[in-house]
Amino acid sequence: MKRAVIIGTGSALPARVLTNAELEGMVETSDEWITARTGIKTRRIAGAGEKTSQLAAAAARRALALAGLTPEELDLILVGTITADMTMPSCACLVQKELGAVRAFAFDLNAACSGFLYALDVADKYIRSDPDLKIMVIGAETLSSRVDWHDRNTCVLFGDGAGACVVTGAESNGNHQRGYLAAKLYADGSLWELLHLEGAPGHNPDLPGAALTAHPSIRMYGREVFRHAVRAMADAVGKVLADQGITPAQLSLVIPHQANIRIIRSLAEHLALPLEKVYVNVDKYGNTSAATIPIALDEANRQGRLAAGDLLLLCAFGGGFTWGASLIRW
Ligand code: UT7
Repeated sequence: MKRAVIIGTGSALPARVLTNAELEGMVETSDEWITARTGIKTRRIAGAGEKTSQLAAAAARRALALAGLTPEELDLILVGTITADMTMPSCACLVQKELGAVRAFAFDLNAACSGFLYALDVADKYIRSDPDLKIMVIGAETLSSRVDWHDRNTCVLFGDGAGACVVTGAESNGNHQRGYLAAKLYADGSLWELLHLEGAPGHNPDLPGAALTAHPSIRMYGREVFRHAVRAMADAVGKVLADQGITPAQLSLVIPHQANIRIIRSLAEHLALPLEKVYVNVDKYGNTSAATIPIALDEANRQGRLAAGDLLLLCAFGGGFTWGASLIRW
């Protein structure tokens, strides 16, 4: 049986590095507070030529190169994002144009920080219906454009970037059932207010959207989100492992959403895994929402941290709330 496998990864980050020391001059904060409470030291901020679609396309080109495919061979482009360049067309359509992926259909998916996990799951479902499909799955964000730079509760946390992977169907690898094994995905819209980003103002005075502010920014009740994130991710991970009859000790690498080093550590403790088995780059890039997991996946792949047969666990939590975990055999 053919399963969805990842045959190439790529990532792209803006050139501009924003340090904690610079933030000290912008809001009442300190390198000490940010480092101790979040683990973040720097984040990347997009500039000219680094719109979400452009970062996404750059990451996609690198993934195509590793996969040994041309853009024309792609059948579908999926982008998980909450910061598309425009409401319409989708970021995925702009990536299709940038790449010249003329045969591909393309659409965006909004699941906030869980966007890449949701998109990967959608790709898996398409591969089940046609294993020959070549699908580009991307997580890409420019959160710097949606952050209130006067709000110290949020502006120190977020960054910009994109990660991508090429997925297609492939046969099992010897004894191993290679590829995308399973996922558990969840949502709870009742808690939306704890972490949200309003849309653009509406123009119809009869609709509530007309009352929205002109420059909506991310709003977050951090402590509450933290509490839910720790519990929800541990629960999703437990369920996907139990579903597949796998113990945490069998995992080769865990790539969690990169929001806060304390959340990542608590997950590692919950799984009784040493931190060496958990990929961390939140210190360099901060929270890039849907892009954190595919950026980390590309780094891990290029560092040779993934060998054939390895069990890889991905897990995320974000606005919606949305959360989940997926299990892949490399
Ligand atoms: O990606 C989607 C999921 N997002 C997350 O998972 C984020 C989850 N939340 C978090 O990572 C953490 O809650 C934060 C990093 C956002 C905040 O850390 P915390 O330990 O939960 O701090 P807190 O919100 O409880 O705030 C503690 C204090 C407050 O001061 P008072 O009220 O105790 O006087 C804040 O005003 O820290 C203050 N504070 C800051 N101080 C210096 C908040 N932000 C800052 C700051 N610099 N940047």
